[in-house]
Amino acid sequence: MLAYTIYSEAGGVGKTTLASSLATAHADHGRDVLAVDLDPQQGSLTYLLDVDAPRSDGDADNIARHLIDRPLGDFEDLIQPSGHGFDIIPNHDMLENLPNLMNTAEEMADDLGEYFDRHDRLREVLFDAGVPDKYDTIIVDPPATAGPQLYNAVNATRSLVVPAEPTGKGMQSIEGLSDVVANLSDSLDISIGVLAVVPNGIGSTTDQQKYLQRIRDLGFDAPVAISDRSSLFEGCWDQQFPPAEYVQEVRAAYDYEEDTLAKLDDLATHIEEVA
Ligand SMILES: Nc1ncnc2c1ncn2[C@@H]1O[C@H](COP(=O)(O)OP(=O)(O)OP(=O)(O)O)[C@@H](O)[C@H]1O
Ligand SMILES: [Mg+2]
Repeated sequence: MLAYTIYSEAGGVGKTTLASSLATAHADHGRDVLAVDLDPQQGSLTYLLDVDAPRSDGDADNIARHLIDRPLGDFEDLIQPSGHGFDIIPNHDMLENLPNLMNTAEEMADDLGEYFDRHDRLREVLFDAGVPDKYDTIIVDPPATAGPQLYNAVNATRSLVVPAEPTGKGMQSIEGLSDVVANLSDSLDISIGVLAVVPNGIGSTTDQQKYLQRIRDLGFDAPVAISDRSSLFEGCWDQQFPPAEYVQEVRAAYDYEEDTLAKLDDLATHIEEVA
């Protein structure tokens, strides 16, 4: 079982775009992939993949209801084909209010003397639904902000893939990554592995080597650097396709974009091997 969370302390560093690329690549390698979208915001994986989900229908069953143990149906029924070779559990607006909903669920469980671990819910519902028997790869895309969405993602997957902005600030967050992972490990009482750190959005070839080396010097695996490819990735968001499909369905790729897509595929292979 390969399971990981796309993690970054900072927002807007390409987590969701990377999640779509990696899910597509793993599926292309013959793996059975389930993506889990825990981010309630508009620019989500569910949106990027153009999955038709009732995200604003408060009466619809959704992942948040299962996380607070108030489901309206079977967990299996939340799983949808993404239309891109893998399955997805779509996001829902209710995820926005998850911290409060978790508080209430915890209080009610306490009153009833029932066991409820607010950070272990995703792992429990995935196991209870037999997901590890049906899929060999799970990718979770939580919001960047700390909260039950992120903690549940990390607790369920125990591994991280970390995109990093190739700037001084981005590199500082990678310098602090060991401490962040240690703190997460302590507070969740689990061990957590970093499968790869991925500098994302790099300007020139010389910079790529510089950033990769700095990350490797910090002791992390950094198999590839992803260049700044605004036209390609903006096009993906605009037309709602994962990158590999965008260049098949919407427009042909330039050679340098083919090179970036090959790197994303190499990254998926590397993750499959190290995990
Ligand atoms: N390598 C890249 N080159 C250029 N633009 C990129 C690259 N990777 C991602 N982007 C762009 O950066 C923007 C943010 O990407 P994305 O939504 O994937 O980030 P995120 O980390 O998931 O953000 P959030 O924290 O809001 O969830 C998008 O417009 C995307 O097209
Ligand atoms: Mg995102």
